[in-house]
Order: sequence, then C-alpha cells, then structure tokens
Amino acid sequence: MGVFANTDAPATGHEQVVFCQDKHSGLKAIIGIYSTALGPALGGTRFYPYATEEDALHDVLDLSRGMAYKNALADLDLGGGKAVIWGDPEQIKSEALLRAYGRFVQSLGGRYYTACDVGTYVQDMDVIARETRYVTGRSVEHGGAGDSSILTAWGVFQGMRAAAEHLWGSPTLSGRRVGVAGLGKVGKHLTAHLLADGAAVVATDVNERAVDWVRSNHPEVDLVQDATALVAADIDVYAPCALGGALNDDTVPALRAKIVAGAANNQLAHPGIEKLLAERGVLYAPDYVVNAGGVIQVADEIEGFNFERAKLRATRIFDTTRQILRLADAEGVPPAVAADRLAERRMAEVGRLRTIRLS
Ligand code: NAI
Repeated sequence: MGVFANTDAPATGHEQVVFCQDKHSGLKAIIGIYSTALGPALGGTRFYPYATEEDALHDVLDLSRGMAYKNALADLDLGGGKAVIWGDPEQIKSEALLRAYGRFVQSLGGRYYTACDVGTYVQDMDVIARETRYVTGRSVEHGGAGDSSILTAWGVFQGMRAAAEHLWGSPTLSGRRVGVAGLGKVGKHLTAHLLADGAAVVATDVNERAVDWVRSNHPEVDLVQDATALVAADIDVYAPCALGGALNDDTVPALRAKIVAGAANNQLAHPGIEKLLAERGVLYAPDYVVNAGGVIQVADEIEGFNFERAKLRATRIFDTTRQILRLADAEGVPPAVAADRLAERRMAEVGRLRTIRLS
C-alpha cells in the first residue's frame, strides 16, 4: 500500500490518495480523499475495467473532488472521497477481494466511508462490512438504507421545483412539459413525482424494458425515439437521468427547454458549457446539488437509518437550489459557479472551526 498523505499536488489539491493491492485476490484499488474539512470523507466504490492505472487514478481524483462539493452542499457533516477498484467485476469480484478491500478501508481509521457506485451493490457492501465498520449503502436486512434512487429522485424533483419558482414564479411543474432522458431507477420515480404534480412528461430510454415499464404504468407519458429527439422536442424542462455529458456542444444549441434539472452526474461535457447554457437563457440547476438525495439517504445510515429524517434533509435541496440560483443572479455568474463558491465557502468556514481547540 502506498500512501501519499498531504501531498501538495497542486493539480488536484487532494488530502490523501491511497493505492491498495492484494495480489492473492487480485485487488487493485485507489482510495481518493479530497477533503475531510467537514468530517470523514464519504463516497462510493466504483468497480470498473479501466484501460490503464492512469485512467483509474484520473477517475478517482475527479470523483472524490466532486463528492466533497456534493456533500458540502447537502448539509452533511462529511467530507468527500471516492474509491475505484481496477478490473472487470464480472471476472474478478470475489469474497476475498471485497474483504481485502474492506481491510484497507478499515486501515484508514474512519477517514473514509465507502458506499455503492457503478459496479458495486448493497450485497457487496455487506461483504465489505465484515472487515470494516466504515461502510454505508448496506442492505435493509443489515440496517441499510436500501435503494438510494428513491431520495435521489425526490431531491431532483425539489431542485426542479426551485428552478421553476426562480424562472416562472411558482414552485410547481404543473402545466409544464418535462423531458426525462433515462427511465432507470431514478427516472421512473421522478416521472411519478412529475405526473403527481400535474406536469406532462415526455421521455426516452435506450432500454426497451424500461420503455415498456412506462407504457404499462404511465400510459399518459409521451415517448420519443432518443435523447436527440427529446432535446429538440417542445419541452419546458429537460431532466438528464441517464449518463454524463448530456449537455454538450451539440445538445445545448438544440435545447428548447428553459430549465435543466436532472439526476445524471457530470452533465456538463466540458468547462464552458455552463456559460453556453447561460447565454442561451437556460437555467441550469447544478447536477451535484439536485442529485444529492442518494448520498443523503446512505449517509443517514451512519446515525442509524431513518427514512423520514433522510427525506426531510433531501427536501431541503429545494432551499439549497433556490439559494444557489439567487446567488448566481446576485454575483452575475452561472449557477454551476455559484454552487462551487457556496460549497467552498462552507468547507472553509465550517472546516476552520476545527482549529478551535476543545481542551
Ligand atoms: P439506471 O442505470 O437505473 O438508469 C439509467 C437509465 O438510462 C437506464 O434505463 C438506461 O437504459 C438509460 N440510458 C442509458 N443511456 C441512455 C441514452 N443514451 N438515452 C436514453 N436513456 C439511456 O441508473 P439510475 O440509478 O437511475 O441513475 C441515473 C443517473 O443518475 C446516473 O447518471 C447516475 O450516476 C445518477 N445518479 C444516481 C443516483 C442514485 O441514487 N441512483 C444518485 C446520484 C446520481
């Protein structure tokens, strides 16, 4: 295990990056801790067949930084971290590998809490938990929060309501047409909230089963061929709920919606897209602000999971989004920049309190 604690890596600013290897089980993992200013770093473990170690490192550095900002704005007493396991989960995931990984997490003494991400599931967290107590996102049988997409969708809906209020004066999607790209775990729940609020929903998914589910359960939803057709459709709000990079040089000029608020991580394909959105008069509710319901749900496990308490906290995504949109107007910057500023402010102001000695 190589530990490069407190490197002054100017390109990343991370507190700690830990390389973990267990040759017998084939485990190769990197744990990235961006910041513990607000508390232990929390973020999931991505199990993915990266082409190179450099790709894995790049991803964990990016993702852990993102978690610090997300957790700061979710009003959690948690810092930001993330881990990647390098390899094909279909080929190499085993009890021994997961438990070896759990021991590395435990060795950090609570500086990092792990959870699920792409390629890892609640059952995996239960295995990891046999070696470490610093794990969330566990199964319901083990006191876990279960499916985090429930509060993710609820939070996205709250963020969208706040954007609607900011733009149209009333915190409702009633009478609006909302385009949902991706009818997976989050997209399905979000569709139900929107319909209940009186919105019309137009949607798309590449997966025929997901489309069939909507056809049977919500026949009033209009379906379009693909995300390109959805972007060009006559919609008021666009909700990317599939993959990252949904807002790019092709989609933004074609977009007819006046608001973008969705669950997908890393919606902005590259820096500068936030300005393009603002120039086109599109109000963008930053992805990591509105999709924080999932991390709020799993973070609640640390206290002993209580759904109502977690839901209350996810409901406050409405207030946070509203605050960010107002700050963006006041400071004359795109909402994505205002969100970063607010997160950095909280990390600096609250993080600074630890310099006050308690004894
Ligand atoms: P999911 O895998 O259940 O659903 C994604 C859906 O998008 C699938 O039905 C898939 O077929 C569809 N899709 C993929 N490519 C598409 C395309 N080009 N056009 C249209 N549809 C496409 O994932 P889930 O959990 O619903 O998450 C959705 C997004 O939200 C992901 O980006 C995820 O990272 C993000 N997110 C999810 C959280 C959660 O708690 N589940 C928390 C925070 C973010």
